[in-house]
Amino acid sequence: MILPNYNEAKKRTKSEVLREEYIINDDLKKIGEGKTYFVKTYGCQMNEHDTENIKAMLEEMGFIENDDYKNSDLIILNTCSIRENAHNKAFGMLGRIKHLKEERKDIIVGLCGCMAQEEGVVNRILEKYKWVNFVFGTHNIHRLPFILKDSLDSNNTEVEVYSKEGNIVEGLPVKRQHSYKAYVNIMYGCDKFCTYCIVPFTRGKQRSRNKDDIINEVIDLKNKGYMEVTLLGQNVNAYGKDLDTNYGMEDLLRDVSLTGIPRVRFMTSHPWDFTDSMIDVISKYDNIMPSIHLPVQSGSSRILKLMGRRYTKEEYLKLFNTIKEKIPNVSISTDIIVGFPKEEEEDFLETLDLVEKCKYDNAFTFIFSKREGTAACKLEDNTDIKEKEKRLYRLNDIVNKYFLENNKRLVGTKVSVLVEGRAQGRKNGLFGYTDTNKLINFDGDDSLIGKIISVEVVDAKTWSLDGKYEG
Ligand code: 5AD
Ligand code: SF4
Repeated sequence: MILPNYNEAKKRTKSEVLREEYIINDDLKKIGEGKTYFVKTYGCQMNEHDTENIKAMLEEMGFIENDDYKNSDLIILNTCSIRENAHNKAFGMLGRIKHLKEERKDIIVGLCGCMAQEEGVVNRILEKYKWVNFVFGTHNIHRLPFILKDSLDSNNTEVEVYSKEGNIVEGLPVKRQHSYKAYVNIMYGCDKFCTYCIVPFTRGKQRSRNKDDIINEVIDLKNKGYMEVTLLGQNVNAYGKDLDTNYGMEDLLRDVSLTGIPRVRFMTSHPWDFTDSMIDVISKYDNIMPSIHLPVQSGSSRILKLMGRRYTKEEYLKLFNTIKEKIPNVSISTDIIVGFPKEEEEDFLETLDLVEKCKYDNAFTFIFSKREGTAACKLEDNTDIKEKEKRLYRLNDIVNKYFLENNKRLVGTKVSVLVEGRAQGRKNGLFGYTDTNKLINFDGDDSLIGKIISVEVVDAKTWSLDGKYEG
């Protein structure tokens, strides 16, 4: 049993990260023959992409995907730790699986992802959820076939969680969720330690993938007909800083763009590492989409300092305005936390003021959630949850107003759309995303799916556009 350890997870050592190739032997390939699997994913794109690797490994082992957990032989929960409600959802699901397992003792159940990296969670599983067959963490996904095999040979919960980040493993198989757009990891982990955030503990220190591995993956995707890649990392702007190669995010963006893949996106950006040369590259290359996720978290410089964000409200606004000036038609989205410890009404009003200035195209808003082990967990917090909820509603009213306003401005214009598939519930309906990452619904035939086309915007809603395609 290898248990998670927060003290280890917090350390940042200079030790070298090695590049390793994924290998699976032939007897592991027979384990799943005749059996079905179901993977439930919580949380961010990083987790979604990990699930794409998990599914492909399971299929290499002979398992077949099933979309109903109730009659699957193997159930895996790929979990998220970012806020308390993500925890509650996963434990709620475990409760439902427990009933199922009382009827069908032979079901195999595994838990992985960020929650597996938390000491408290693993202890709770070992005490109260002894029937869970195996637990593995975010640093050893490639070990799944071995862990699964060991758990089948054992009567206890098999736990293998590394607290110290592992090597970068290349060559993992992948079962892609979408047909025309793909996630490409460019880095793992985060060294920023924003005081509210559990990610540096659950995902370990920052490790960038070698540029050639990334570029080759993009070229391969392009050759297979993919139209769009999203370069993924917790803090993509810091790409390369751990490699000492003098090759940063602006170089990578340029080189990925030069592969000729039709659309390039990236997320998530930390404002602190966003350089002018990155902005120049984004504006220069047409296939880098004019859509940037730029989490601000708060509009109060006092709270930003307590959050350990390394910028003030004014510095953020300066960056925001430079991006708007230099990248034509760019859409900018953000993340905002309300009710951070010590946030007073006047701090919150600063956040509202910032939102009024930025008029975001999209925003994800959250109430602060205490995460065990983080620095903010120790800060005194006197604000009542009812007050925090009120702040969230007040904030949402304003951000929603601007989503709609920005969308309305597009009515009558033509937008470039990657058509992804059939929209549910509408007879001839298709859906896709604009270059600025807005969902658009319109009518058209199947031959358009997977193509980038020009669509006229005819109506605007808060979270989507309606379009008309005329061929
Ligand atoms: N409480 C609330 N929101 C959080 N986020 C990260 N940690 C917390 C927390 N403890 C939000 C941030 C981040 C997004 C992914 O989740 O806004 O950008
Ligand atoms: Fe968390 Fe901050 Fe790292 Fe983002 S940059 S993952 S918010 S610690």
